[in-house]
Amino acid sequence: MVHLSLFTAALLSAGASLVAAAPAAAPVPTAAAKLEERGSTCTFTNAASASKSKTSCSTIVLSNIAVPSGTTLDMTKLNKGTTVIFEGTTSFGYKEWEGPLLSFSGTDITIKGASGHGIDGNGAKWWDGEGSNGGKTKPKMFYAHSLTDSTIENLNVKNSPVQFMSINGAENLKVIDVTFDNSDGDTDELGHNTDAFDVGSSTGVYISGANVKNQDDCLAINSGSDISFTGGTCSGGHGLSIGSVGGRDDNDVSNVYIYNNKISNSQNGVRIKTVYDATGSVSNVTYKDITLSNISKYGIVIEQDYENGSPTGTPTTGVPITDLTVSAVSGSISSSATDVYILCGKGSCSDWTWKSVSVTGGKTSSKCENVPSGASC
Ligand SMILES: *[C@@H]1O[C@H](CO)[C@@H](O)[C@H](O)[C@H]1NC(C)=O
Ligand SMILES: *[C@@H]1O[C@H](CO)[C@@H](O)[C@H](O)[C@H]1NC(C)=O
Repeated sequence: MVHLSLFTAALLSAGASLVAAAPAAAPVPTAAAKLEERGSTCTFTNAASASKSKTSCSTIVLSNIAVPSGTTLDMTKLNKGTTVIFEGTTSFGYKEWEGPLLSFSGTDITIKGASGHGIDGNGAKWWDGEGSNGGKTKPKMFYAHSLTDSTIENLNVKNSPVQFMSINGAENLKVIDVTFDNSDGDTDELGHNTDAFDVGSSTGVYISGANVKNQDDCLAINSGSDISFTGGTCSGGHGLSIGSVGGRDDNDVSNVYIYNNKISNSQNGVRIKTVYDATGSVSNVTYKDITLSNISKYGIVIEQDYENGSPTGTPTTGVPITDLTVSAVSGSISSSATDVYILCGKGSCSDWTWKSVSVTGGKTSSKCENVPSGASC
């Protein structure tokens, strides 16, 4: 731990202004005074100084930063208890690379946006309708990796080149009232694979009040447990998904609560997909109070046949889906869509409870297989 006094000059020369949170108190440096000293707010206006000095400030204000092309605004390995505040407009230069544009890790971290702030990925420079399947190499927007006992709140992020937020290795992470707006990518269908939240290998991820406009999954849980998504709205994308599960290092999903969300103008509403011939598990999942409107493919789709990102039509049993509750999922979907489609392997879907499921307006599927008792197709 380096003390503030040693750092003041370096910080100032690096383009940061430094404001003590409280006036220096005792003449003798007691433990309390040292804490106060560390309780400093640093405001950065360029990415390099922010990344360089990130462990010298307890509050970091990222003010109107234009991040140079091909670099990450690196907020990884923050000191325990650090608060990071986005202020003004954060923007990013153009380059074909993998990203991420922003990266955070640490314990007891708070990441939030000041009133009127915006984080603009300038995605239109990369959008070519091909997402991560080809065309330009596109940087991922935001890595929330290895965040423990932390909170991300009130962020306004728009124009992600490809996926928005990757949550991985998180433990007790709250994501509150975040807006991801990629609606500009709907023009000529240029935005693609712009998943809002990809969650993997995490325990305790609580996403509430998200407002998402994108062109792929609003939520995609690949692995992890104790994950909730509540009070959200999703528009333009592929719905609230678990999967694909299987074929990764970590292939178990459990204790998921998806409650009180609205999904509109999307391909799917509720979706669970597991990988063909893979192993893993999906257990104790609840979808409750989900309102659907203008859904173009499936109201509810659960299938155990995915391979290389596409359905094969042949389900396998290696990733069982058990203890699934679908309750009060309702809405009228487009007439060309299918209300409910369930494709399970023999015996690999069990202990399902369906209550007040009312998806109407679309077609009835004739291709459902091995539908467990309780559910209907
Ligand atoms: C099932 O998941 C819920 C969260 O949705 C959790 O509260 C509950 O304890 C889990 N049940 C079991 C048996 O683990
Ligand atoms: C329905 O959703 C599609 C996207 O799936 C969108 O293009 C269309 O404009 C929406 N229709 C209405 C009436 O909102």
